Amino acid sequence: MHKLLTTVLAALLLAASLGTASAATHTVKAPADEDGYKLWLRYQPLAPAAQVKLKAQSRSIVLTTAGTPTTRAAVAELQRGVAGMGGGPAPEQTTAIADGALVLGTTATLPALDAALKAELSGLGSEGYLLRATRLQGRTVTLIAANTDIGLLYGAFAWLRATAAGTAPEAASSPKLQLRLLNHWDNLDRHVERGYAGASIWDWWALPEITDSRYTDYARANASLGINGTVLNNVNSKPEVLTPAYIAKAAAVADVLRPYGIKVFLSARFSTPLELKETDTADPLSPAVQAWWKKKADEIYRTIPDFGGFLVKANSEGQPGPQDYHRSHADGANMLAAALAPHHGIVMWRAFVYAPEAGKETDRARQAYEEFKPLDGKFAANVMVQVKNGAIDFQPREPFHPLFGAMPNTPLMMEFQITKEYLGFSTDIAYLGTMFEEVLESDTMQQGAGKGPTVAQIIEGADTPGGQPAATGMAGVANIGVDRNWTGHHFDQANWYAFGRLAWNPQASARAIAIEWAAQTFGNDARVTIPVVDMLMLSREAVVDYMTPLGLHHMMGTAHHHGPAPWVNDLERPDWNPVYYHRAARDGIGFDRTASGTNALEQYAPALARLYADPRTTPEKYLLWFHHLPWTYAMPSGRTLWAEIIHHYDRGMAAARNLQTRWDALRGVVDARRHAEVAQRLRRQVQNAELWRNACIAYFQSVSGLPLPDGVAPPPQPLEYYKGIHFPYAPGRG
Ligand code: GCU
Repeated sequence: MHKLLTTVLAALLLAASLGTASAATHTVKAPADEDGYKLWLRYQPLAPAAQVKLKAQSRSIVLTTAGTPTTRAAVAELQRGVAGMGGGPAPEQTTAIADGALVLGTTATLPALDAALKAELSGLGSEGYLLRATRLQGRTVTLIAANTDIGLLYGAFAWLRATAAGTAPEAASSPKLQLRLLNHWDNLDRHVERGYAGASIWDWWALPEITDSRYTDYARANASLGINGTVLNNVNSKPEVLTPAYIAKAAAVADVLRPYGIKVFLSARFSTPLELKETDTADPLSPAVQAWWKKKADEIYRTIPDFGGFLVKANSEGQPGPQDYHRSHADGANMLAAALAPHHGIVMWRAFVYAPEAGKETDRARQAYEEFKPLDGKFAANVMVQVKNGAIDFQPREPFHPLFGAMPNTPLMMEFQITKEYLGFSTDIAYLGTMFEEVLESDTMQQGAGKGPTVAQIIEGADTPGGQPAATGMAGVANIGVDRNWTGHHFDQANWYAFGRLAWNPQASARAIAIEWAAQTFGNDARVTIPVVDMLMLSREAVVDYMTPLGLHHMMGTAHHHGPAPWVNDLERPDWNPVYYHRAARDGIGFDRTASGTNALEQYAPALARLYADPRTTPEKYLLWFHHLPWTYAMPSGRTLWAEIIHHYDRGMAAARNLQTRWDALRGVVDARRHAEVAQRLRRQVQNAELWRNACIAYFQSVSGLPLPDGVAPPPQPLEYYKGIHFPYAPGRG
């Protein structure tokens, strides 16, 4: 359905629920405490009228296909959901189709499915589903139909989601991308790189004999979104993960996830055979190395028959790779791909590289394109190149990566970061649905301004000659840990959720997703969902405003990436220093990436490059990403650039306080435990926003030498005070 339409529909449904919600107000007790463990799969009792409707639709469950672990999971989920939301016993599973039954099946097993439904179903592929209130064998039933068992499980979750959120179920749906993956940056010692929700959920030490029941709940949550793969270990990988002991551990996880349609992948370290001392080189053209990887792949597939493949970070930030042997990324990726191909495994080769030659002045934003664009069409059929959303590194805001649209002969996967390394860890609310959406709907202008394709269309394969890419996909760096609520901040569950929903449909609306999530997570009560959705929708822009407005980027504290440090200028590499990125000096601020600067702009399509070459036609949100401008530059608002920057910092700080005020108003409406936990974090978020605002204004004023505009509150402390703030032992260090 058209995105605008889905958004409007979702908003209307939300507004419609206002009436029932306020009517229910008198009878509703203070909600019982919750700890967030159940995520969006809470299945709490619905309002009385909705319960009546639900019970009429789910008097029994009929599974017309064979019982398999996957269909049994679907039935169990429906029973759990109906019992919880209907406030009664779980419906029984029977074989007779009766009025009010929930019927699950495929074309082959559904008796008397009419021709139109059969035709519709046949177009839904191996993971799609169809939901319909219809008549079957003369009975009024709710049909969940699919072509496969996993389609039935997805259909069951979709029906439960709509029931919980009080929305009309989608009539039919199938994923637009084939691979929808989480990337865990989890180390084998359970430290999670850039993790802010406790230790890794993968207890490698206990595996394979001991599997935590959490793994099943993880699988349910992911399957409810359609996530169908997970990379268990960090891209900064270790050789041990490919030893027999660890393959057995990964196999035990794979066994738990399999019924939920989730394949296991591993991050492979390029030098593994050399480091395990089983070869004397890791050169991808060495026959011994090639043979080692082939044998290793065979070994893995003997243990994990549906193993997904490898994710590889090579020749990036000190990781080994083919360039160590003067070979290209394609040589490296293709060597691994050849080992996996007989088993239908894939290689996801990351394009996150930046390695300027010593002494050569270059722009980090240019480097991935420079290395990868010439390799377009040179990768094996089972290689995907995994590209971060922007050219630097998961900043609060980046323009889309210029590789999207530049490699039509190579399947490109999107890599988003769900964990908030640069957006306030798990203490600040920043709903990433809007950020993902902004990237996905960006116009690459390959066909001309306003003519697309969008980034979403590119990853769906729109620019592939013939329109049929070998594979499509999206990966999200997970924000999951052993914290009771999985993600540290209750609101960070929304980011996992939004990632999954957008991986299923990259053209979905972030607002519609926020509405769905809020209704399932806090109950379908407009007194809560309306303010929560408002909070989500304003939150990411708030973070951009109080951290890096107007296209500024990478001004976070060294290594841990928390808190402001725009003054840092003494790190080993120039492109690790905030001063390298903001380039603030007496004459102005911003990074000139036009022809008078590094010309990174030339990597985009000509229509976009032309538009952004002029600050007047560059979107304000990217202004200082592409331009170095005087402090006195006149902004469209009538303010000078200097005053505009300050205005954004003030606006961000005010927005953080606004989040807090809105949440405070929900005391007594949201359960006390989750309310208090979020309220504590919001206090930290306000402090963080104030710190960013004050430190950045103090620093930039020291550089610009300009007075503060009238009415602007001066930072309460001198610059030296902010410079003296350190965050030793910040979590998630690399
Ligand atoms: C960032 C992050 C690292 C991570 C790297 C990557 O630089 O800070 O921790 O390893 O991205 O994506 O490989």
